[in-house]
Amino acid sequence: MNSITAKAPSSTANLGPGFDVFGLALDAFYDTVTLTRQKNGISIITGDSIPVSPSKNTAGLVVQYMKKKFKIKSGIQIKIKKGVPAGFGMGSSAASAAATAIAFDRLFGLKLDGNTLVECAGVGERASAGSIHYDNVSASVLGGFVIVRTKPLDVLKVLPPSDLRLVVAVPKMVVPAKKTQVSRSVVPKQIALADSVVNLSNAAAIVAGFVSKDSELIGRSIQDIIVEPARAHLIPGFNSVKKNALRAGALGVTISGAGPSVISFATKKANLAKISSAMKKGFASAKTDCTVVICKPSGGAKTI
Ligand code: HSE
Repeated sequence: MNSITAKAPSSTANLGPGFDVFGLALDAFYDTVTLTRQKNGISIITGDSIPVSPSKNTAGLVVQYMKKKFKIKSGIQIKIKKGVPAGFGMGSSAASAAATAIAFDRLFGLKLDGNTLVECAGVGERASAGSIHYDNVSASVLGGFVIVRTKPLDVLKVLPPSDLRLVVAVPKMVVPAKKTQVSRSVVPKQIALADSVVNLSNAAAIVAGFVSKDSELIGRSIQDIIVEPARAHLIPGFNSVKKNALRAGALGVTISGAGPSVISFATKKANLAKISSAMKKGFASAKTDCTVVICKPSGGAKTI
């Protein structure tokens, strides 16, 4: 085989109380990566405004890492087509990294297990996040709902309930170049034990909700009293977006990953169009336009 293409989904990280631990693949947007054998070196082709130097590009970092780890001598051309908006908390770099890891695995017949694919894709996060965290890449590689244990890395996947629906509002705003670093810098370094108990109880209930396929339990447990309050000021109109969505029937509302997108959890029974327009109005109250996407959980990265 000379060339292979893989696509990987967008994702939401944290789901409220699961900071750096929970991820959910979303069928809202996809990145596509084609890897082609070439004589020497690593080259990157893209029509999108992303770095083309391999050591500064998410996919480039993954290829560099996997070439070294698996002693692959061949040169590789990487063609990237971005579909996931970059810098908005939708797992954009993770999607490129996941598609690259899957394409590399198939191109060289490595037959890697899920944890190893996630570890390889996680290297790409360094390009955008500045630190490696595996919540988005795990979701994008494996699909569904994921729980990330670290030291050693151990990623657990649970299939989401079929009636779970998400409404994601992506605000039209200029995000800082190092957005994830900025939004991580405001997260408290120390927390009260009582707060950690509240978040832990909600996180545990979210897991129980996914395992028992109970979307209502998931939705009402999307409550974070530690990270969300610290980051809310970075998102224009966040409190109105959240309040409006809850009034319109969302079961739970929080920041998608490091933001600034906001995500509502609901079931297919809810009036999703009403939740969408409620979120839009919330952003409009802060003079901010947004794009709203109604979506479902997605499967993981795959070759096409
Ligand atoms: N868990 C990470 C954060 C996701 O919230 O900072 C960012 O990609």
